[in-house]
Amino acid sequence: MAAPADDRVPCPMAGSADFHYRRGELFCESVSLRELARAHGTPLYVYSAACIRDRYQAVRAAFGDAAQICYAVKANSNLSILQLLASLGAGFDLVSGGELQRLLAAGIDPRRAVFAGAAKAKWEIELGVKEQVRAFQVESPHELPLLAAAGRAHGRRVPIEVRLNPAIAVDTHAYIATARQDSKFGIDLDRAGALVAQIAGDPDLELVGYHVHLGSQLRAVEPYVQAFAAVAAFLRGAPARRLGVKHYDLGGGFGISYGKGEAFPLAELAAALLPQLSAHGLRPMLEPGRYLVGDAGVLVTEVLGHKQSGSTSFVLVDAAMNDLLRPALYSAEHPIVPVADRGRASSTVDVVGPVCESGDFLARARSLPSVESGELLAVLATGAYGISMASCYNTRRRPAEVLVDGASHRVIRRRESFAALWRDELPNESFA
Ligand SMILES: Cc1ncc(COP(=O)(O)O)c(C=O)c1O
Repeated sequence: MAAPADDRVPCPMAGSADFHYRRGELFCESVSLRELARAHGTPLYVYSAACIRDRYQAVRAAFGDAAQICYAVKANSNLSILQLLASLGAGFDLVSGGELQRLLAAGIDPRRAVFAGAAKAKWEIELGVKEQVRAFQVESPHELPLLAAAGRAHGRRVPIEVRLNPAIAVDTHAYIATARQDSKFGIDLDRAGALVAQIAGDPDLELVGYHVHLGSQLRAVEPYVQAFAAVAAFLRGAPARRLGVKHYDLGGGFGISYGKGEAFPLAELAAALLPQLSAHGLRPMLEPGRYLVGDAGVLVTEVLGHKQSGSTSFVLVDAAMNDLLRPALYSAEHPIVPVADRGRASSTVDVVGPVCESGDFLARARSLPSVESGELLAVLATGAYGISMASCYNTRRRPAEVLVDGASHRVIRRRESFAALWRDELPNESFA
């Protein structure tokens, strides 16, 4: 399965050189995707460990040793991916009690994690306090008494970061813009002063920082700069707003190319923000998800057939919206390439799956080399928000996942059995 490293031909649409052609076949690092598909079936997610390491080091290099890099677990929460990032020194950004339990299952110290979320349930707060997460990101006032009670029960003050909403418009899909004026996320600056005063007046709570997350798949530095300017103005208010505050969490959202344009200018962002944070005595914290794992994954799918409907040509594949929701949910455009590169003529097609929804497509009106039934396609840049958003809709099993590292690979999630899909259902014998 391994091939020598000197015959690589770039795959121009892949955001990472870890996916490239060798002798006309797409490889992940030194492993053939065709052979992985043969061994493990399709649809199949394949990830590159080298790419994840490189991306983590790129963020570290841009922001320096003092920065706390908390990987946004929601992007891809496979236990092996979490362990890989933990081995690099990452912290973690959680949005649910389930994600916290994933960290525990992966053997990762929860004190490396911050716990975000607009509406945490009581049990989630209690679990986070018990496991001593490094901070709770609070953006909804009802959580403060629950946090204080949990802190009292465990005899410790609970560290709080307040998530502010600086009302900044960003250029991304509406569903992943999170700091508009009327967003459910964060607390607007007019209301945040009262929340901070409430924290300051509670002996069981401790204000340690501020947090802003503007949205996802951003390409520009300016909104981050505007956001911190708004936070800095807020800090100039009552002294309680600064007391004990150690860090500023600038969120995640660093975009990747998806085959078009450049990835996010990390160094430019660091150059713009770090001096300002340092002038305010604040340590940087970041929560990248997509940037660390997005380009590190592909979804390999088999072509099942073709058909024509009206003027549209369809390529029918065995992956669907349940495996990769982003095209249906956000009109996201993932590059798609044949696993075997034979320099064929292209035509315009829709690439669609078997799910019974007209919204089930992987690409629309896309120029694709003509491919035959039984051939493999790779849907690129699917390492983030791919498997983590997958469902079993239409009673389809979610894809297996493989992590490649150099010339070796490991299945990091088996394809579930059909029986597992209804294992927890309770058939009613009286209807039988
Ligand atoms: C609070 C928060 N932090 C970090 C992220 C990660 O965003 P991204 O994957 O775009 O870096 C998200 C994504 O939804 C988020 O809501």
